[in-house]
Formats: sequence, C-alpha cells, structure tokens
Amino acid sequence: MYGKGLYASRCSPCHGNFDGKGFAAPGFTPPPANFKDPTTIAMLQESFLFWRIKKGGVGLPVEGMPWKSAMPRWELELSDEDIWKVIMGEYDGAGQKPRTWDESE
Ligand code: HEC
Repeated sequence: MYGKGLYASRCSPCHGNFDGKGFAAPGFTPPPANFKDPTTIAMLQESFLFWRIKKGGVGLPVEGMPWKSAMPRWELELSDEDIWKVIMGEYDGAGQKPRTWDESE
C-alpha cells in the first residue's frame, strides 16, 4: 500500500513492524508507540496523528508530557502529503481502519 515504503524507511527503526519493537526502540522513554495495540491509533483521530507526526516529541517542554518523547519532528523531512500517506500505511500495517475515510472516494 501507498506509504509503506516511507514507513519502512522512516518509521520502522523505532516503531518496528507496527508493533513498536524496532531495533532502535529499546532505551526510549516513553517507548515508540505500538500501532497494533488497540489503545493507540485505533483510538485516535487522524487529525491527531497528523499533528503528532508533524510535530513529533523532541524539543517539547517538560509540560508537553506525555507527548515529550524521542518521536522525530517529521515536518522537517516529510511533506503534508507524505505524512498522510504514511498514516494510511500505518493503519493498513496495523490492521486498523481509519475512522473517517470513505474508501469509495
Ligand atoms: C527515533 C524513534 C522514532 C521514529 C524514527 C519514529 N517514531 Fe513515532 N514515536 C516514537 C516515540 C518514542 C513515540 C512516543 C510514544 C507515544 O507517544 O506513544 C512515538 C509516537 C508516535 C505516534 C503517537 C501514537 C500515540 O498513540 O499517540 C505516532 C502516530 C507515531 N509515533 C508515528 C510515527 C511515524 C508515522 C513515523 C515515521 C514517519 C515515526 N513515528 C517515526 C519514536 C519514533
């Protein structure tokens, strides 16, 4: 699916095979999100994911907890369009469906 290549190169080192167990994952606090866990993307709105991926967690003030984390600030590298592609790849890889997209469009 679209976005999978981006996910593989940019996200899997930390988020692994959508399970949060990438080779770089050990040692991060909080750990990279496990997208297969029903409490992560399955519960979240796409707009939140977009913001979360765009802004990441690095450099947030301590008050930014629990969102202050090693999650990179992808707006520096990925275009908005790429971020949406990666989100679609994420849902697909995690076996989840986005809540608001109508695939017939
Ligand atoms: C350097 C390691 C690292 C990389 C690379 C990385 N992440 Fe993250 N990510 C994290 C960490 C650490 C968290 C924090 C844990 C959390 O917020 O649940 C996180 C959290 C997230 C969350 C929030 C999930 C939630 O439940 O709030 C999303 C969405 C996400 N990452 C998507 C991505 C995408 C998409 C990419 C690739 C473009 C990516 N990440 C690359 C480390 C990483």
